[in-house]
Amino acid sequence: MNILIRLPLATALALGLTAPLTAQADALEQQLDDLQQFQIIAHRGASGHAPEHTWPAYELAREMGADYLELDLHMNADGELMVIHDTTLERTTDGEGKVKDFTLEALKALDAGSWFNQAHPERADDAYAGARLLTLDEVIDRYGRDVRYYIETKSPERYPELQRALVETLEAEGLVDAGSVIIQSFSRDSLEQVHELNADIPLVQLVWYSPAEDGDGLVEWTGVTPAPAEITDADFQAIAEYAVGVGPNVVYDGEDVIDKSFVEQAHANGLLVHPYTINEPEQMQRLLDWGVDGMFTNFPDRLREIVE
Ligand code: G3P
Ligand code: CA
Repeated sequence: MNILIRLPLATALALGLTAPLTAQADALEQQLDDLQQFQIIAHRGASGHAPEHTWPAYELAREMGADYLELDLHMNADGELMVIHDTTLERTTDGEGKVKDFTLEALKALDAGSWFNQAHPERADDAYAGARLLTLDEVIDRYGRDVRYYIETKSPERYPELQRALVETLEAEGLVDAGSVIIQSFSRDSLEQVHELNADIPLVQLVWYSPAEDGDGLVEWTGVTPAPAEITDADFQAIAEYAVGVGPNVVYDGEDVIDKSFVEQAHANGLLVHPYTINEPEQMQRLLDWGVDGMFTNFPDRLREIVE
């Protein structure tokens, strides 16, 4: 919790704390100001070029000028925060089973890079073989306040302690006060827990629209909004109570699930719009024309070329 920022000004003045208070407020304000500009969010790092959530993917994302590194979090058997997208190990490592069942030592023994060379021979690099899974602590130790982090709480119902552990880590490192973090989730409950722990952290509500099972229109995965065509201002305002933005999918099975009016209505209700995951230049340009405020992409270089 940001204690300084909540002190009454007179108390802060009496304690001689106005300088840090001002600096913290300025940093958070600067982050919110920056969010008014278009943001390039490197999805799992530059994961189109290198194995997701490994050092090569993050280093490339930084070289390519990403504004945020996107990180997905799970918890291991030791209760540490691991940066990995899937609940299970099979797709992106040579291990088998669930992340939550393994110690850090066991997870660190896995190869999290060779799968990429096999899946993407045209982008393969011998240096990727043997890349290791990372903890959130390691990523923060390496980059500190030099980058901004766009962190997703994955499967929060599976890890009830994840929100607290995450916020404590960010606070201990001063990253909230530095304006270095956004937290995103498909789970409204997870975001509300984070908001309760530290109301200064900017939050983004992820949404995923797909066809209803009965074939009647679209549904949002967790029911956080109605179908895009039926969203009211009150629906967006309910999200704006705790979040600064929404992160929608744009396409399902080749068909658009949102349109420009979704973006305009979200804006009218004070929400930023950061769609995921946009990898093709034509799609990037189309969404820029809709007025979105940033995009998650596996190819920050492609997006940088279009927005510059
Ligand atoms: O966080 C935005 C986007 O990454 C959500 O989808 O499955 O890639 O985490 P996913
Ligand atoms: Ca994600």
